[in-house]
Amino acid sequence: MARLRALEPGAAIVWRDISALPMPDAPYAALLAHPDDVTPPAARGSITLSETLIREIEDADILVLGTPVHNFTVPAALKSWLDHVVRVNRTVTLSAQGKKGLLTDRPVLVGVAAGGVILGEDAQQPDFFTPYLKAVLGCIGLHNLHVVSVQGTAFCDASAKAAAMENALSTLSPVLSACTEAELSHDIPAPHV
Ligand SMILES: Cc1cc2nc3c(=O)[nH]c(=O)nc-3n(C[C@H](O)[C@H](O)[C@H](O)COP(=O)(O)O)c2cc1C
Repeated sequence: MARLRALEPGAAIVWRDISALPMPDAPYAALLAHPDDVTPPAARGSITLSETLIREIEDADILVLGTPVHNFTVPAALKSWLDHVVRVNRTVTLSAQGKKGLLTDRPVLVGVAAGGVILGEDAQQPDFFTPYLKAVLGCIGLHNLHVVSVQGTAFCDASAKAAAMENALSTLSPVLSACTEAELSHDIPAPHV
């Protein structure tokens, strides 16, 4: 975020601490199962939070996710956020042909920390993080994913972590520059996941 701020000092940054999100509740689950239900909004549980989180995405030119890997995949907090923003007939439609995303695509920058090595050629663990995130965000229309990682945090000291962070950020430089150009949707490098 500091790099983005330096490139675009006037940018409005909206922070969302997803570690504080509750799990989606039963009325919300029922609504997803029966999206045409006409239950009044007040009785729809997590739908209000879902709407807030979806609007945060819709209002953003760039989405930045910072997350650890937990047990080979996204942590429960990020899963909860996904469960709130992947909503039938709001961000995704279902048909016999599959799912179709309803959100306008925009860059999604993902900074991920892992205790071991889960991504890339030297991976020692199965990667259920990247393919999952790519699939679930793709199903709501977000395909322009850029994942950078700091890995092996369980085995390196603070200076090695700082160097790994610097290295990760440097790979993002072209993406950040393109993202902050006036014509935001043009010339953004192809996703790398
Ligand atoms: C519940 C839990 C599960 C974890 N599972 C994995 C894992 O499957 N693979 C891995 O490489 N690291 C795993 N880790 C380690 C974290 O990914 C690592 O500590 C990471 O650096 C956390 O990010 P942070 O340093 O920003 O807190 C796990 C950590 C926790 C707390």
